[in-house]
Amino acid sequence: MNYSISPEGEKFKLPEEKDYEHEFLRIKKLSDQKRKEGYEIVVVMGLGFVGAVMAAIVADTVDKKTGKPAKFVIGVQRPSVRSFWKIPLLNKGIAPVKAEDPEVDPMINRCVMQKKTLIATFTDKVLSLADVVVVDVQCDYLKNELGNVRNGEVEMQALESAFGVIAEYIQPGALVLIETTVAPGTTEQVAYPIMRKIFQRRGIKTAPLLAHSYERVMPGRNYVASIRDFWRVCSGINKEARERVEKFLNEVLNTEKFPLTVLDRPIESETAKIVENSYRATILAFLDEWSLFAERNGVDIIKVIQAIKVRPTHSNMIFPGPGIGGYCLPKDGGLGMWAYKHILGFDDNIFKITPMAIDINDTRGTHAAQLVRDALRLMHKPIAAAEVLILGASYREDVGDTRYSGSEIVVRKLTEMGAEIRVHDPYVDHWWELENQDSYPGHGHSKKAFFRNQEKLKEIRVQKDMNRSLANADAVVFAVRHEPYVELDPKKVVKAIGKPAAIIDAFGILSDEKIKEYLDLGCAVKAMGRGHISRLRDKK
Ligand SMILES: NC(=O)c1ccc[n+]([C@@H]2O[C@H](COP(=O)([O-])OP(=O)(O)OC[C@H]3O[C@@H](n4cnc5c(N)ncnc54)[C@H](O)[C@@H]3O)[C@@H](O)[C@H]2O)c1
Repeated sequence: MNYSISPEGEKFKLPEEKDYEHEFLRIKKLSDQKRKEGYEIVVVMGLGFVGAVMAAIVADTVDKKTGKPAKFVIGVQRPSVRSFWKIPLLNKGIAPVKAEDPEVDPMINRCVMQKKTLIATFTDKVLSLADVVVVDVQCDYLKNELGNVRNGEVEMQALESAFGVIAEYIQPGALVLIETTVAPGTTEQVAYPIMRKIFQRRGIKTAPLLAHSYERVMPGRNYVASIRDFWRVCSGINKEARERVEKFLNEVLNTEKFPLTVLDRPIESETAKIVENSYRATILAFLDEWSLFAERNGVDIIKVIQAIKVRPTHSNMIFPGPGIGGYCLPKDGGLGMWAYKHILGFDDNIFKITPMAIDINDTRGTHAAQLVRDALRLMHKPIAAAEVLILGASYREDVGDTRYSGSEIVVRKLTEMGAEIRVHDPYVDHWWELENQDSYPGHGHSKKAFFRNQEKLKEIRVQKDMNRSLANADAVVFAVRHEPYVELDPKKVVKAIGKPAAIIDAFGILSDEKIKEYLDLGCAVKAMGRGHISRLRDKK
């Protein structure tokens, strides 16, 4: 295939060998002009979820003294079939990422079309123009078994080849800021030796100026603010790198309000990211067993959590829903464990809680599927051939990001049991994990490998029309706390279905009143962690 297709279906021809030199000269001309005007040249590598918005934030900054734009940003994206389209789209002023944050689209448009401080390209040679290189390529963790993070492995290839390419082209004095979430030790023990070797071959006597600062970006309505107006941790490989990264981040982020935390060594900021996310994954996983306890003993876990959260020291307790997704929480602990063995060289097994938490979170969705089966049994229907509507494909409420969502496991398990699946989500246009399951989220990465009979899921198209989705469903699964689902009226739902159905609440969405209404309407109701439903039924 010699073209790349955008999610909207626009086709772009991939560049050929002869296009590279011309492209470089075009960008060099623009960059030289900007440099003459006093701009700093920043190259952002990887225009994905993080890189595209980070690039725009840097391009949107103004010099704090003069109030004028001060950074010219060149986004470099590899021209793969899967991602090349991001380049021509961005160059038209269109965001290559879908965002619920109303700031993203105008910011990218403003920087590309008006301020002319942002441009995207496929040629790595532009690295030679950079004062600062920001690395935002992915570093994935491949799991080989469902519910066993231990026998997975880090895919270092994209990152390692990016380090090599950077070292081939950059000026010796350019700062290289790694923002990718990496296996601890990567900056000093992977990037440094790769780059140092290439520097030596190029006859460069100085060491590469490497720094690390991880992203805390959250997809959703505060996407931009979660990068720009949020606390950052950073570190440098030596004093000069540390000072340079502090200066750069102070210029591009709102550090007056959200001061930087500067750590001594890159391995400390790399570890901070992994521990931060493993902590979050752990407190979510911990509630899985109590959710089951509640379900089996007449307890509503949602009310229990609310009661506990009143205590300020426990205010970050949240119900895990049908599993924990997003790009980071399912993998970051794995990066840490892998680094301990494969970068840092230890053989012993010190990790107990971190892998257990990830494994629990990864498999929690199967229980939601079992509740669907059980609710259908109450309605005297087998799961096989039942029409099951999943409300919500994304990994958290009110975002369109489906990466590693709990809903995916629910759908896959139900499909294995023979159910017919339909999906509704107001924020998701395409559920690529299903539609393109042979290549998404990467070749060999699909969770389809862990289940039977997954082929037909390719046909699934996410519905936007609620009434059409509901019509004649045998079971409805509330899988994500999207606002429109919280507001759904049971009477209208059952009317749109056309008959009583099995209702499954996997995310603590239904109030007691709504549960009672569904029961009164002849529906069977099951819910994760909500053991009080039988009491509500008995009180009818
Ligand atoms: N998405 C999030 O919510 C989030 C939050 C915090 C941290 N992070 C971290 O940020 C990093 C990037 O994540 P993302 O979500 O942006 O990933 P992504 O997969 O959306 O984007 C990575 C991009 O880099 C490109 N790329 C890969 N190698 C390249 C190369 N050599 N040259 C140019 N481009 C290249 C890919 O084609 C892709 O477009 C990861 O380490 C991730 O863990 C992500």
